[in-house]
Amino acid sequence: MAHSKRNTVIAATKNKHKLQEIKKILSGSGIVVKSLSDFPLIPDIVENGKTLAANAAKKAETVMKTFGHPALSDDSGLFVPKLSGQPGVRSARYAGPACDYPANNRKLLQNLKAYQAKDRRAYFATVMAFAVPGRKTITRVGKIWGMITETAKGSNGFGYDPVFQPCGWKKTFAEMKAAEKNKISHRSLAVQKIAKVIRQYIIKKNPKNAEFT
Ligand code: IMP
Repeated sequence: MAHSKRNTVIAATKNKHKLQEIKKILSGSGIVVKSLSDFPLIPDIVENGKTLAANAAKKAETVMKTFGHPALSDDSGLFVPKLSGQPGVRSARYAGPACDYPANNRKLLQNLKAYQAKDRRAYFATVMAFAVPGRKTITRVGKIWGMITETAKGSNGFGYDPVFQPCGWKKTFAEMKAAEKNKISHRSLAVQKIAKVIRQYIIKKNPKNAEFT
């Protein structure tokens, strides 16, 4: 299981949708992404941090330490101010420990049922973490504002995509083509920022224990 190439990072996720988006966004960047699905024996990492950044750092550092190789991770969530920030850090398990995406969307729509458009504002956030042996873990944030629609619309993407309509658009993420979502999404913004950090690492410009950028 040798991972010697400096331009290769292991993505600390088994979520196929996230992985696909990260690989698409990084295609042509010179950064090669290996996935945890290539290593099925790695147990799931418990996401028990209080923030996206804590969870992202934990995932990247666990995988980096397991393989002794740079690792990249994503932790994301949907935040609705009117619901005191929920689903937030617990976005994956909003409707209960064994819930699925439709159950989460149903719960969200139900909890916002009484609210008009102005109270349905929400943002998606992604924190990308990049962990390298012997270095401080670096995180970068991407955020996009929009609103929660009254019904679920569209079948592309994953998670809360059918109920999230980004500002300036008349369709939900799930009604967009993958390329459209990847151009503007929270994940795309965070991945582009962390890509700059990874490039600095690849070309060895970074001093030890300092930020790469
Ligand atoms: P986590 O980063 O794996 O903890 O993701 C938390 C949850 O947020 C996922 O299970 C999805 O429901 C949701 N989520 C994360 N990113 C997206 C996205 O790009 N679109 C829709 N839902 C997302």
